[in-house]
Amino acid sequence: MSDIVRIFDTTLRDGEQSPGATLDAGAKLEIAEQLARLGVDVIEAGFPAASPGDLESVSRIAAAVGTADGPTIAGLARAVEGDIDSCWAAVRHAAKPRIHTFLATSDVHLEHKLHMTQEQVMAAVANAVAYARTLCEDVEFSAEDASRTDPKFLTEVFSTAIEAGATTLNIPDTVGYSQPAEFAELVRYVIDNAEGIEDCCVSVHCHDDLGMAVANSMAGVQAGARQIECTINGIGERAGNASLEEIVMALHTREAFYGCQTNIQTTQLTRASHLVSARTGIIVPANKAIVGGNAFSHEAGIHQDGMIKHAETYEIMKPETVGLTQSRLVLGKHSGRHALRLHLTEMGFEHLDDEELGRIFARFKRLADKKKDVTEAELEALVSDVHYQPEDRFTLNGVHVSCGAPSIPTASVSMNLPGKEPQTRAATGTGPVDAIFTAINRLIPFEVTLLEYVVHAVSGGIDTLGEVTVRIRCGNGESERTFRGHGADTDILVASAKAYVAAINKQARFESGMSNKKSESLAGAKE
Ligand code: KIV
Ligand code: ZN
Repeated sequence: MSDIVRIFDTTLRDGEQSPGATLDAGAKLEIAEQLARLGVDVIEAGFPAASPGDLESVSRIAAAVGTADGPTIAGLARAVEGDIDSCWAAVRHAAKPRIHTFLATSDVHLEHKLHMTQEQVMAAVANAVAYARTLCEDVEFSAEDASRTDPKFLTEVFSTAIEAGATTLNIPDTVGYSQPAEFAELVRYVIDNAEGIEDCCVSVHCHDDLGMAVANSMAGVQAGARQIECTINGIGERAGNASLEEIVMALHTREAFYGCQTNIQTTQLTRASHLVSARTGIIVPANKAIVGGNAFSHEAGIHQDGMIKHAETYEIMKPETVGLTQSRLVLGKHSGRHALRLHLTEMGFEHLDDEELGRIFARFKRLADKKKDVTEAELEALVSDVHYQPEDRFTLNGVHVSCGAPSIPTASVSMNLPGKEPQTRAATGTGPVDAIFTAINRLIPFEVTLLEYVVHAVSGGIDTLGEVTVRIRCGNGESERTFRGHGADTDILVASAKAYVAAINKQARFESGMSNKKSESLAGAKE
């Protein structure tokens, strides 16, 4: 019988720490719902002490997704009572709440960041964990920068945390420094030496700075860890966290090797990946394992020949196992609203209201008119473009571009602006996208710098939708922020304008504090 490795998803906490990946409360709830469908054991929904908006968002997820048969809902808290109180105020709305408290243990953090001695760290851990246990039965303690901590001290800290009531002990490779064999040795050392650890769950949490996050996590499992902390698409601080889909599929495909399995519904992986990519604006590279566009394509003739003769020659996983139905042609221009609703429900988009469905249907019809058959991937892009458009302040009315060679690329853009009559501005640029963005800049009341621009085709074929993602910078110094925006259209110039305006709306909402005020109150939350 295989052991179960718990999957602790931290997309909404560590993942949200990716540069420019700020998610508002509605998008977080949507992702949490998909994580529940995916079957993760624990959702780390946020860091409630960070802001009232974070507390509210974790509370909403706890109340809506943390049902008795749903996942455990965890919140992060520094090892201080104030943070732990905020965390509890949010996660207590879940049927299975968890307080996840942490403190750094490495010399470099003690000396330069915390200015604490080892004795002070031990005392703080004991107090924090004991306090958290007065509120919640399920308490996880993480020793930040564990992989660069003296193993003996680390073990003493864990023994102290266990004595104070911790039920899960997490060993993070915070800066992605460890190597698999070394990390396994550390996990084994902790398991062999921390007092009382046999009654606790040992967890690993690895960052990808040297590209080892998944390898280190798997090495941790071989050494006895039974919880892995990871994120969808591997997003997270700097180079990111261990990628959930890679870990899950490694355990699924090599179950006999690891002697372990997970509770994950693997067929939900692709959808989770798309949703996180669309909401964060972080594009998944084509060669990314499991969820990249090329992960299941066979290009070389010799491979294609082998695949035709016997799929196992080159295929270790079936695309259907990860929920990949990308190239399936699903609906055509004669399909009606009812067929679209049915298909979207089958795809997991069962929460669309009539108004949203109407808008998706109109977009679908325009697309089907242009390209005959619409694929599931294109439908997903339409839903992502239309569903959950939170109270845009700036809306695009029209884009006209003239370009080619020889000519000066010129764009005129019309927009609705908050509290004003619709306005139009024109601009020239080095190319059509530059001209569009310059015209938009002339319409908005703050300065924006374009940092990143990515365009890709949603599925094969020259007539498919183009998806554009942009990253912009607003403000400077202390108030500097980056935001991502995403847009889809068969015309990539229109998609570009949509993506740019979507990012600008994030900045506008951030400025007016709307993302916090917008969160609905906790009506119906469990007490
Ligand atoms: O990377 C890290 O150390 C963390 C902890 C807070 C678990 O994210
Ligand atoms: Zn981390």
